[in-house]
Amino acid sequence: MQKLLTDIASTMQQENERGKVADYIPQLAHVDPQRFGIAVALPDGQLFTAGDASEPFSIQSISKVFSLTLALGKRGDGLWSYVGREPSGDPFNSIVQLEHESGKPRNPFINAGAIAVVDAIMMRHEPKEVLAELLSFVRFVANDESICFDHEVAASELAHKHRNASLAHFMKAFGRLEHDVDKVLGTYFHQCALAMSCTQLAHAGLFLVSDGVNKATGTRVVSAQRARRINSLMMMCGHYDGSGEFAYRVGLPGKSGVGGGILAVAPGRASIAVWSPGLDGTGNSLLGTRALEMLAQETGWSVFGH
Ligand code: DON
Repeated sequence: MQKLLTDIASTMQQENERGKVADYIPQLAHVDPQRFGIAVALPDGQLFTAGDASEPFSIQSISKVFSLTLALGKRGDGLWSYVGREPSGDPFNSIVQLEHESGKPRNPFINAGAIAVVDAIMMRHEPKEVLAELLSFVRFVANDESICFDHEVAASELAHKHRNASLAHFMKAFGRLEHDVDKVLGTYFHQCALAMSCTQLAHAGLFLVSDGVNKATGTRVVSAQRARRINSLMMMCGHYDGSGEFAYRVGLPGKSGVGGGILAVAPGRASIAVWSPGLDGTGNSLLGTRALEMLAQETGWSVFGH
């Protein structure tokens, strides 16, 4: 495994075509596109890394996996009155389906759906309390107390919030958000501004590898059924309108973020995190996807065969 990761990292470091770093959140535009990191965490506690695996980056939409998990814990199946479970086939920040579907987002991973999930976990608490709970949950699943929010990234997104503010106001107009739009958005932007390294993310994904139990720490996070369902949502919706392509090429549940990270889960085998800041046309990490494709090919890890 160590040799494979070293090979993948050196292949990716030599690539000239690296995609385009997200710049609609200005703070993310400063990130060096040459960065590349990969980490593989095994349920027995082993960790393999290569490249910039210990450098924290903005996890952005990968955080939606953790907020979804928290929301299911608080709301159970009641969450599905806030948000659906179908792939959207549209970009992550699209508004078009919302009008046709009376303000109910297709799934928890598109921006509109993740904003609805934040609304569902607020339960009349203030943003600070909700963020403290989210942070302690992420620290718990990653077994790492050093994880923090990057407040500059959150402020940068807040200053350029118009697209997400449109989604939130549109949902509010349909009576879909219980809380004040600005409070929901502020919470959502901070959630997305969690900074984590590949190593931390790979550890945080371990509960999805072993039916809800982080075997490395011996702690149950969710039921087996819930872990499987979260994986299914990652498979179908985790890469937005690139989800079919990701399933075809990588064959594992995965969740991307515009910071260039991807968390992928090989059930029963490993939790994998990659980071390469340059994105493809669907807003998913170009080389991150390629690296996962290489890893899946070499290991044979896939949910579609064995
Ligand atoms: O709301 C946004 O646009 C960002 N905070 C997160 C979007 C994102 O990461 C899309 N993923 N590839």
